[in-house]
Amino acid sequence: MSELAGPPVPGLTKLWTHDPVTAGPYRLVGRLGAGGQGVVYLGEDDAGDRVAVKMVNVDLSDPRARSQFVKEIAAARRVAPFCTAQVLFAEVDGERPYVVSEFIEGLTLHRHVRERGPVTGNALHRLAVGTVTALAAIHSAGVVHCDLKPDNVVLGQDGPRVIDFGIARALGNTETASSRVMGTTAYMAPERFRDDAIGPPCDVFAWAATIAFAAGGRPPFGSDSLFAVMHRVLHDPPDLPAMPPVLDELIRECLAKDPADRPAAERVLVRLLRQDGRVTEPLRRESLLEVGNETAGAPTPDQPLPQITPTAPQPGATQVPARPTVPTQARPVQPAHLPVQTQPTHLPPTEPGVGAVGGGTSRRLHSEALDAWGISTALFLGSVGAAAGYVASSAVGPAAAVGAVAFVVVYVVRLLVATALGRRSDRG
Ligand SMILES: Nc1ncnc2c1ncn2[C@@H]1O[C@H](COP(=O)(O)OP(=O)(O)O)[C@@H](O)[C@H]1O
Ligand SMILES: [Mg+2]
Repeated sequence: MSELAGPPVPGLTKLWTHDPVTAGPYRLVGRLGAGGQGVVYLGEDDAGDRVAVKMVNVDLSDPRARSQFVKEIAAARRVAPFCTAQVLFAEVDGERPYVVSEFIEGLTLHRHVRERGPVTGNALHRLAVGTVTALAAIHSAGVVHCDLKPDNVVLGQDGPRVIDFGIARALGNTETASSRVMGTTAYMAPERFRDDAIGPPCDVFAWAATIAFAAGGRPPFGSDSLFAVMHRVLHDPPDLPAMPPVLDELIRECLAKDPADRPAAERVLVRLLRQDGRVTEPLRRESLLEVGNETAGAPTPDQPLPQITPTAPQPGATQVPARPTVPTQARPVQPAHLPVQTQPTHLPPTEPGVGAVGGGTSRRLHSEALDAWGISTALFLGSVGAAAGYVASSAVGPAAAVGAVAFVVVYVVRLLVATALGRRSDRG
């Protein structure tokens, strides 16, 4: 293994003899894992910033395959950074195409459940909220994950993150379970086994199966032979573990055999957030995703995540065009893994970060209070007031008092009006 500049990464294994040693500006320092789509390496740049590099098993010499790959990865790059590992760029020239994404340190949900047991109580609520927030963000960018499963959820320090979205589709959306793996059978929706159109509802089904796995330690249609699982997915009701009633009801709806009967990810998120009464009014999508993101991460505002440095393109290589800047989720740090709880607990009414309405107003008030235009207007009208006072009284003292009062009145009235108008535009 090439030497790591940063702290050790649990589970990282040595590079194999024929493994590549670089990918663009990154040194490959070890293997994070391997799945049906290829091998994932840990990459580090000169500054010690880390990324996950997935070398994909795909032949892009066919122009159609190549253009689909480029298109899907470009769409994945547009996904908002809410509970997702951001896709940074992809390299499509050369013999081995690869996709570079944000490295999330932590166990996958699959490994966490295998090693530490099922997730319950608040941790389960946060997991459900975080993963469905990611799904809503993914779907709103026009991307279908197509491979959501416990291996593609990493329990990061700041909450759960969904990884690998869009890659299954980038590798070809005409294939089914009988050819290259495009999803793990136990999490695949019934329409995936037919020749039906695949869309966001297949991710909603996979989300529900993933949460049921987290809560009970087993997928709801079993995990034995491919055909037995496929038969249950197509014909049998799910076998679900005990879960809180709202979650149980949602999971059952999301596992409906007919994709048209499943709620959209955004609806699932609203219902999860509403159950504790903290989102009581319609919110704009962006605000809703923000609340989901904060709920999943249980923020402590003074510990933001480090910024991701945008990567320099490799000379001479064709890359999927980069977004101008990669906005990093300023989501704060919390204990390393979702805690495993044996007794269900209830969310405390004062849990931070979930009060969308109150939190939104104070954020807006804070930003309006520092608004340069508002301050300049108040200063200008304050000076006009002082000048008028001087003309009327010819004395400096009363003129200054009139100016100060005019400044304060203009500043406060503008602040209140701007905050109220901003809150209105945040709704519905
Ligand atoms: N962005 C990432 N951050 C951290 N670890 C990752 C990331 N992407 C992949 N991994 C690790 O690499 C492993 C292999 O990934 P992958 O090839 O997608 O297979 P699978 O999803 O079937 O596990 C994952 O299980 C995970 O441990
Ligand atoms: Mg994966």
